[in-house]
Amino acid sequence: MRHLLDTKDLDRRDALRILDVAEDMAATQQREVRKLPTLRGKTVVNLFFEDSTRTRISFEAAAKRLSADVINFSAKGSSVSKGESLQDTAQTLQAMGADAVVIRHGASGAPQTLAGSGWISAGVVNAGDGTHAHPTQALLDAFTIRKRFFGEASRGRDLAGLRVTIVGDILHSRVARSNVWLLTTLGAEVTLVAPPTLVPQDVSAWPVRVIYDLDEAIAAGPDALMMLRIQLERMNAAYFPTEREYSRTWGLDAARLGALPADSIVLHPGPMNRGMEISAAAADSPRSTVLEQVANGVSVRMAVLYLLLAGERTEAEEDGR
Ligand code: NCD
Repeated sequence: MRHLLDTKDLDRRDALRILDVAEDMAATQQREVRKLPTLRGKTVVNLFFEDSTRTRISFEAAAKRLSADVINFSAKGSSVSKGESLQDTAQTLQAMGADAVVIRHGASGAPQTLAGSGWISAGVVNAGDGTHAHPTQALLDAFTIRKRFFGEASRGRDLAGLRVTIVGDILHSRVARSNVWLLTTLGAEVTLVAPPTLVPQDVSAWPVRVIYDLDEAIAAGPDALMMLRIQLERMNAAYFPTEREYSRTWGLDAARLGALPADSIVLHPGPMNRGMEISAAAADSPRSTVLEQVANGVSVRMAVLYLLLAGERTEAEEDGR
């Protein structure tokens, strides 16, 4: 694997390979010494042009547990805020010897631009670009679903037979887009639930069913319900009347939580707006996988960095370099 830009590029085999390597990584994280020597001497740059808490520290933890050197570069307080272009920033990183660049950017397509530019030779990992894609989030969601439903028997399995319902601000969600492609590639049945104003226009081209009533979606008995944050920072118009109205119609409150099938799970990528799209009762219930998603995120990102960087190292070693 040279870059990880979009789950749309992954076939079933690629996706299962990443999830299975993540299982191996998770197993190493149960040991007393969690650090592996695998990426010693490699440099991973976290290039974040957009705010992030969990994704950035998750990539940092993943790289450090593989013994890579990590450079955190955030646009605020850097020359980017003085108007430096993506090209100049990338060329600076190249000159510093970056082996992998993990990029989060407000513009959809920025990671593709970087990967295809010739400005850097590093592998590029998309950590979220605009409303377009967030592949490692979808991979950690798939990993979490697989683990909850299949436990020790997860390895090698896809998600055939499972029904996943994604609820909320689909329009602005790169998490929803990346999940739609990955989960369907893995054989899951995906349903989207949202107010009509928050459903993208091109949704008819997606391999999903769309419904506009959360109670109807819950009555259908999904295995996993994924609640999305309302992305107010990406909204330039009124997409719903009031926050109160939104949470009443589209929020996962205690009553809706109680109406879910007994063995179903509730996911949220974070950061959560408690009381808005998800109630405290749902967020803190035993069905909630929110903290498992965070823990699994480190294993999945370890797997991605390993597949991007360790293969290359083996070839170089074989060549005697
Ligand atoms: C998501 C993101 O940034 O796209 N969060 C994350 O990566 N943990 C979802 C969100 O911000 O709501």
